[in-house]
Amino acid sequence: MTYSISILPGDGIGVEVIDATRPLLDDAAHAGGFELETTRYDWGSERYLEAGSMMPDDAIETLEPYDAILLGAVGHPDIPDHVTLRGMMLPIRKAFDQQVCKRPSVLFDGVESPLRGYDGGDIDFVVYRENTEGEYADAGGHEHRGYPHEVAVQTAVYTRQGTETIVRAAFEAARSREGRLTNVTKSNAQAHGMVFWDEVVEEVSADYPDVTVERLLVDAASMDLVRRPDEFDVLVASNLFGDILTDIGAIVSGSMGMAPSANINVEGHSPSMFEPVHGSAPDIAGRGIANPLATVLSVSMLFDHLGESEVARDIWRAVESQLADADAPRTPDLGGSATTEAVVEDIRARL
Ligand code: NAD
Ligand code: IPM
Ligand code: MN
Repeated sequence: MTYSISILPGDGIGVEVIDATRPLLDDAAHAGGFELETTRYDWGSERYLEAGSMMPDDAIETLEPYDAILLGAVGHPDIPDHVTLRGMMLPIRKAFDQQVCKRPSVLFDGVESPLRGYDGGDIDFVVYRENTEGEYADAGGHEHRGYPHEVAVQTAVYTRQGTETIVRAAFEAARSREGRLTNVTKSNAQAHGMVFWDEVVEEVSADYPDVTVERLLVDAASMDLVRRPDEFDVLVASNLFGDILTDIGAIVSGSMGMAPSANINVEGHSPSMFEPVHGSAPDIAGRGIANPLATVLSVSMLFDHLGESEVARDIWRAVESQLADADAPRTPDLGGSATTEAVVEDIRARL
């Protein structure tokens, strides 16, 4: 069996965590008895500064044939974020219909939460984030600028197909876990999209009598992710709300540097993309101290998606074993002083 994987390191610590994690892919192939064909594309902000675009014109055609995409992070302090992200990462999620974004938050044994009173395993939930429309749809957005009464219009779009796809994926996940789903919306203020979303959840719930559904407004959900993160199992939310909830999920389970994600093309006709939840972190970039575990865990999710579940589990377990080991190397976000590379080397030794 041969899998093809395109690697997009991107910018800042994205490049650091991807380049450090790269050898782990070959270890995984060796352990799993399959072949990998990988290609690294140096797209991103440096390219933008030199050539005026983040990716070449045929980037989507170039990525289409791959079995999966591994992405680092995108974002540069000298270029507006809407230019870089709309030039590289967001168009990939859209072009390949990566409608389902799966983002687990796990407090591992040996990791300290900034919240008091939680031990390893206490926090273990997954957010299903709608990933290609909602508040990121960009349809019909426009501005009337340069007048005393300037206006900028940003629309949100919820299609039946998109909403049902993420909601069904979340119900399936809940069914395979503890059978509890939290539906996060803002139906008290957003009477069109969010009320429609709630109705879709209600309808789909009829097919999942074994799943209990709880409804929370996004402000209260944000509060409860801090107050009682141990009580959540699966959460489902729109694009923007899912984005915000997953940064909260990352930090309550220890660090932005440990949160992985999968952007899944459910129908399987185009590649899915795996990436850490964090960004390019200009505040620590260039120092070799970024935590690579979010990327390592994203690689585990990548192999799981390709059907190599044993290898995926072994990588996940190597991370668990490293974090449970008080003598193992840790990056500064976890209270240690190790480098990105030292952490990956230690993971490789545990595989
Ligand atoms: P960020 O996630 O880059 O950083 C937030 C904080 O978390 C920073 O203090 C950073 O040092 C820390 N952090 C993040 N990843 C870490 C890691 N692996 N190890 C240790 N600490 C880590 O978010 P930001 O500062 O809001 O954004 C920086 C840039 O990244 C912006 O240009 C933003 O648009 C972009 N961004 C890109 C993505 C992506 O490509 N998927 C995601 C988020 C932000
Ligand atoms: C993420 C990021 C992106 C998002 C940004 C950089 C556009 O925050 O992947 O969480 O909002 O999806
Ligand atoms: Mn985010």
